[in-house]
Amino acid sequence: MDNKIIIEKIKKLKKEKNAIVLAHTYQNVEIDEVADFSGDSLYLSRMAANTDAKIIVFAGVYFMAETAKILSPDKKVLLPNMNSGCLMADMINLKQLREFKQKHPGIPVVCYVNSTAEVKAESDVCCTSANAVNVVRALGAKEVLFVPDTYLGSYVGSQLKDVHVITYPGHCPTHLRIRPEDIIEKKKIFPDAKVLVHPECHGEVVKLADFVGSTTAIMKYASESKDKSFIIVTEKGVVDRLKRDYPEKDFILISDKAVCPNMKWNKLEDILNVLEQETNEIDVDLATAKRAFETIDRMLKL
Ligand code: 13P
Ligand code: SF4
Repeated sequence: MDNKIIIEKIKKLKKEKNAIVLAHTYQNVEIDEVADFSGDSLYLSRMAANTDAKIIVFAGVYFMAETAKILSPDKKVLLPNMNSGCLMADMINLKQLREFKQKHPGIPVVCYVNSTAEVKAESDVCCTSANAVNVVRALGAKEVLFVPDTYLGSYVGSQLKDVHVITYPGHCPTHLRIRPEDIIEKKKIFPDAKVLVHPECHGEVVKLADFVGSTTAIMKYASESKDKSFIIVTEKGVVDRLKRDYPEKDFILISDKAVCPNMKWNKLEDILNVLEQETNEIDVDLATAKRAFETIDRMLKL
């Protein structure tokens, strides 16, 4: 079916069924054509928590749809394609988190939103890449355990000299494929370009950044900056959106390897299918959801 027809059908069904589509910045860019809100994890969590819609189609990965369900338990939350997992979120399970806590007793646990519901339920407060530094600062603890992303955790530690951040050894394979040499090479070709980096990258990559931030923060920085040229050091979806929105500026993707295959599973056809049939519904058991809600809610209230 032609994309135009699919888009029209999705728009019609959204109205009929009182549904919204939330799209993460790493999604295939054409998905924005049907998205009510598009942005980073923090922004989308807020939208999921506040919507009056009956159905939320989450064009993102599993943990994002799960987070939306936890925040809006009375809504039907649908994931367009069930293959869309997050490799980082799968790097820690409940047993591993409990062992990590036992090794470091009495220390509060901050979990990155890229984690399963049961890991969130077992943590003290959640964070996203947009607010990780502020969340850890607001905790006021001398030591924190940070799961599952060792690189985001280390970045937080580098920004808060008075807090000892003990990180779990998880990572994002997509961001870890980006090497400092990639930036050095690109800077040789584009010496005036500003380097905008996502904090899931390796610390040696983050060190070369002019700006470090979430996907929405990177887009905001690039849009407001007087500079004209930017090396984008995160997933390709950010570059696709920046090129679409600011054609007068230059955006250089750091590497062809900066693609999250799991984010790209969702296609317009999948959104249409789940809206038509109301399949791929996300469910979280009540006890886990209740505790995970408290962890996420603490973050949203900070
Ligand atoms: P943000 O959009 O919150 O920066 O998240 C990046 C990411 O990797 C999501 O999986
Ligand atoms: Fe997970 Fe990395 Fe993909 Fe984000 S980019 S969804 S952290 S695997």
